[in-house]
Amino acid sequence: VSVVAVSLPNQERLAWWVNHLAELLPDRRVLAANDVTDADAVDYAVVWMPPTGMIAGWPNVKAVISIGAGIDHITCDKEFPSGVPIIKTIGPDMTQRMREYIALHVLRFHRELPDLERSQKNSTWEQVFTPTAPNRNIGILGMGHFGKACALTLRDLGFNVSGWSRSGTAVAGIETYNSDGLEAFLAQTEILVCLLPLTDETSGILNAKLFEKLPAGAKVINVGRGQHLVEQDLLAALESGQISSAVLDVFTTEPLPKDHVFWTHEKITVTPHVASLIDPISGGKIIADNIGEFDRASIS
Ligand code: GLV
Repeated sequence: VSVVAVSLPNQERLAWWVNHLAELLPDRRVLAANDVTDADAVDYAVVWMPPTGMIAGWPNVKAVISIGAGIDHITCDKEFPSGVPIIKTIGPDMTQRMREYIALHVLRFHRELPDLERSQKNSTWEQVFTPTAPNRNIGILGMGHFGKACALTLRDLGFNVSGWSRSGTAVAGIETYNSDGLEAFLAQTEILVCLLPLTDETSGILNAKLFEKLPAGAKVINVGRGQHLVEQDLLAALESGQISSAVLDVFTTEPLPKDHVFWTHEKITVTPHVASLIDPISGGKIIADNIGEFDRASIS
């Protein structure tokens, strides 16, 4: 019988996922990774941050399923067996949540809400004039599934949206730039949204050199990974005013340590990796469906 092994750092959530997937996959044995006794029997692994070498210890694994949209938490395993497919889990609920989060923070920046909130603190009636959305340039770094969805949401709100990706894939109604166009893309971006996957090429991309190429006073929203951002470079750019505000949902160390400067920085909004959390109910269904589909595709 087919074994699906589940690995998650949080033991409580692990137990939940094992039970939930067992219900959704009645023809398979769903086991927590630690309960696997026959390594040869594992044909699917469902994981978040699997320990190094764990997947390599299951020689017959057909596919590894990420409990989430990112796969960097799997590919960072130096012993990950080459050639084993990795399946991302992106449900409509995750896309919807990401669109909401990005719309919320872009609109907040666009309408200068941080300034208005500061005025309220001082009981100051200070009207702020803002351009309309078509006169505001938003730049999306990373035009994958989430990047495209958010670009279209922002376009529908009336914003002037550009997207940057390695290949410069065209998206209707969005001006797209490829790797050669990074400078031109940045030069016109007033609000930058990072929705890139974390790879060797994108690690540290949000650095001083990139910030300098944005118009002075630009704003940054990072919902990719903490490792996209060079933290000291952001602090320096906020200090100089080159960047006027930032929203950070992801961090190199999560949870963000209690004493980290980001928590209390007046120009930074910190959210605890909540932009687009996987919903275990609908996410579980997608994972179960993907396993079934993968099986059917590999048989035919
Ligand atoms: C969350 O960060 C995910 O990759 O789903």
